[in-house]
Amino acid sequence: MTTGSQRFIDKHIIITGAGTGIGRSTANRFADEGAKVVIANRNRANGERVAAEIQEKGGTACYISCDVANPESIDDLVKQAVATYGPIHVAVSNAGINEKQPSAADLTVEEWDRIMNVNARGSFLFCRACAMNMVDNGIAGSIVTVSSAMARGTKTETGAYPASKAAVVQLTKNLAKCFAHAGIRVNCVSPGVVATEIWDAIEDAMMAERGTFVDYIIEQSVTNGQLLIGRQGKPEEIAAAIAFLASDEASYITAQNLSVDGGMDWCW
Ligand SMILES: NC(=O)c1ccc[n+]([C@@H]2O[C@H](COP(=O)([O-])OP(=O)(O)OC[C@H]3O[C@@H](n4cnc5c(N)ncnc54)[C@H](O)[C@@H]3O)[C@@H](O)[C@H]2O)c1
Repeated sequence: MTTGSQRFIDKHIIITGAGTGIGRSTANRFADEGAKVVIANRNRANGERVAAEIQEKGGTACYISCDVANPESIDDLVKQAVATYGPIHVAVSNAGINEKQPSAADLTVEEWDRIMNVNARGSFLFCRACAMNMVDNGIAGSIVTVSSAMARGTKTETGAYPASKAAVVQLTKNLAKCFAHAGIRVNCVSPGVVATEIWDAIEDAMMAERGTFVDYIIEQSVTNGQLLIGRQGKPEEIAAAIAFLASDEASYITAQNLSVDGGMDWCW
């Protein structure tokens, strides 16, 4: 999706989980609009590939290794990012994981922690560190978190993921209140079903039962009239919403959760 707009010229934008999927599209979108983009990712090969993809188009991007669940790794990330591109203007907390899990009745502590540590704790650590950098540098920046349609509904076999994404929505609102005094806006985007690598582990677990799982749930929800735009979302459609909320066009929007889910009224 090319728009020709240049809303982020010379802005330093840092995105976690930007090695694949929604984060990769978001990194490309910001770079296409003139930003200097930090690709923060746990997987080095994917992160370096996205940085190279942007550089090949003439854009500005670098890869920095990061595990969002680790406070020291977040501190290192922010230090390296600031040393490379200067103070942070926009932070996108996008890194996340999912897996097929049992319900809360049977969930192990390890399964709970694995999801919560990346999705909830990681968002908290990353967003706060970036907000503090903005405050220290007098930058009225913008932060966008990524939750999920799953934050507002659940099924028994989804374990910790919905709880982790509901935490992201509430974290967003709290950060918006904490940092409003500095002119920092904090908003959330909640995607529906977008075919990215995050589904691989779930597909593997479900394939024997249901065939290609993403196709299956889209088909079911269209049949049931529970998905108004009857297809999967595209990563670039989520990136467009993130870029909007990060931009000055959203200058009167903060503490909000924007659903980008094709008009979904279910959760699998
Ligand atoms: N794809 C969907 O259907 C969907 C729906 C709703 C919400 N989301 C959310 O969108 C976000 C992006 O997911 P995606 O669909 O692009 O999946 P994805 O698997 O392609 O991207 C997630 C990225 O996060 C990175 N990551 C995972 N753990 C990390 C860690 N500890 N530290 C740093 N990086 C880490 C992965 O390496 C990967 O590049 C996630 O937060 C996800 O929960 C996705």
